[in-house]
Parts: sequence; C-alpha cells; structure tokens
Amino acid sequence: MSQTDFGYKKVETQEKETLVQNVFTSVASKYDVMNDMMSLGMHRLWKKSLIDQIRPKQTQSFLDVAGGTGDIAFKIYDETSQKSDITVCDLNQGMLEEGKRRALEKKYSNIKWQQGNAQNLPFNNNQFDVYTIAFGLRNVTDIDLALREAYRVLKPGGKYFCLEFSKIPNAPLSKVYDIYSFEIIPLIGEKITGDREAYQYLVESIRKFPKQKELCTKLQTAGFENVKYRNMTAGIVAIHSGIKI
Ligand SMILES: C[S@@+](CC[C@H](N)C(=O)[O-])C[C@H]1O[C@@H](n2cnc3c(N)ncnc32)[C@H](O)[C@@H]1O
Repeated sequence: MSQTDFGYKKVETQEKETLVQNVFTSVASKYDVMNDMMSLGMHRLWKKSLIDQIRPKQTQSFLDVAGGTGDIAFKIYDETSQKSDITVCDLNQGMLEEGKRRALEKKYSNIKWQQGNAQNLPFNNNQFDVYTIAFGLRNVTDIDLALREAYRVLKPGGKYFCLEFSKIPNAPLSKVYDIYSFEIIPLIGEKITGDREAYQYLVESIRKFPKQKELCTKLQTAGFENVKYRNMTAGIVAIHSGIKI
C-alpha cells in the first residue's frame, strides 16, 4: 500500500483524506476566529490581495475550491456588486454548513454550495472562468490530480489562482517563523478549539507543501501556461497563477 504525508507523519494514502476531514470537522465552528488569531489578522490582507489580483468581473463564473466557510466567495461576491456566479466547493460538510450560516447572515442567497473533492470535481469540463483555492491545496492528498481537475473545469482562457502558505527564503526569518509556528500556534489552537493536534497538523502540512518553484512546475505539468507566483509577507504565503490556453 502507498503512503503519504499527514503533516510529519506517514499514513496510508487512502487514510489521509479522513484524517484531514477530522481536523476540519473539529475546528469548523471556531475556524474563523482561529484564522485571525494564528495569522494575527494577516489572512484578511492576503485574501484581499488575492481578490485584487483576480480583478473579478460580474460576467465571470467563479469556482472556489476548498472554499470552507466562504471567505473568498464572499469577497468576490462583494467585489462584483453581488452579481457574479459563484460556487463554493469543499469536501467538509461542517465547513460548508458554517459557510451557509454566514451567507444567510449576510443575506447572500445566490452563492452555490457544493460538497466535493478537489481531486474529482463534480463539475463539467470547461465550466468556469476563474478557479480559486485558498489555504486548501496543501490539504489535498494528490496535488497533481487536483491541478489537472482545475485545468479540466476551467474554460479555455480561464484563470487559476492558488493562495497558500509557502517557504520563506530568508533563513534567519524562517527560524523565527518556525518558533512561532511550532511553539505558539498549536498552543493557541488548543486554548481556542481544545484540539492541539489539529493545529500541529496545520503547521506541519505547511512545511511539507511544495516550495514556490516546485508548485510552478506542477502547474505547468498540469497544462497551465503563463505560470507565475508572487510572495507576500516575506514568503509566508504566495499566490500562484496560471492560464488555461
Ligand atoms: C484551511 S481551510 C481553507 C478554507 C478557505 N478557503 C479559507 O481560506 O478560509 C481548508 C479547507 O480545505 C478543505 N479540503 C481539504 N481537502 C479537500 C479536498 N480534497 N477537496 C476539497 N476540499 C478539501 C477542508 O475541508 C477545509 O475546508
């Protein structure tokens, strides 16, 4: 049987999805508070930066994969004066329910919520103008497969955007970040959600994720052209983009 990484642990490939889902089921209701605590509010700026880069238009159709509680979808919806066609897809029903609850609060009735796996998307070929995935790709068991699926569901000319934790090129800074990640984040996670393990996994999964240039190569292998990345906050996160020609 083949094995894969679950954070720093090696697990059976088939087992990873269930383990990742346990993490998100465990944190779903506190997920948004935790995001603010762990990133010191920075995730809002990173997400805003992603939206600025996308420059969404009312006439486009959007798919936000691993969309969780809807942050990216809500921002796109706002940016297009609540007129664009947006689908949020996530594997975890708990995260989607939390997203739907937030959408109801905001009276955003037109956003579609679809349970589904990034590796086997429940959508047609050539369906969307824009595909986004924010802090989701590192949780997916087979990244290459997820990239091929993204390529499949995008229309020719469609654009791919991935916002994800990445690698800090500066060594001293990277050391400080390691201390924060491994000593502080699991501790905050435990205090807020009672689940230290979940946050230990999140930190480890960041370290296991492909570096900026490796991810570019994967995007090109999946068929994307004009592949680029942009570091933010010294490379703590990066936005990768590509086009299906
Ligand atoms: C860290 S959250 C990110 C949520 C949201 N995009 C955001 O930026 O706030 C990661 C999400 O990825 C989802 N996920 C993990 N594996 C997935 C998969 N194979 N297919 C679809 N969603 C997946 C989880 O259920 C979770 O909601």
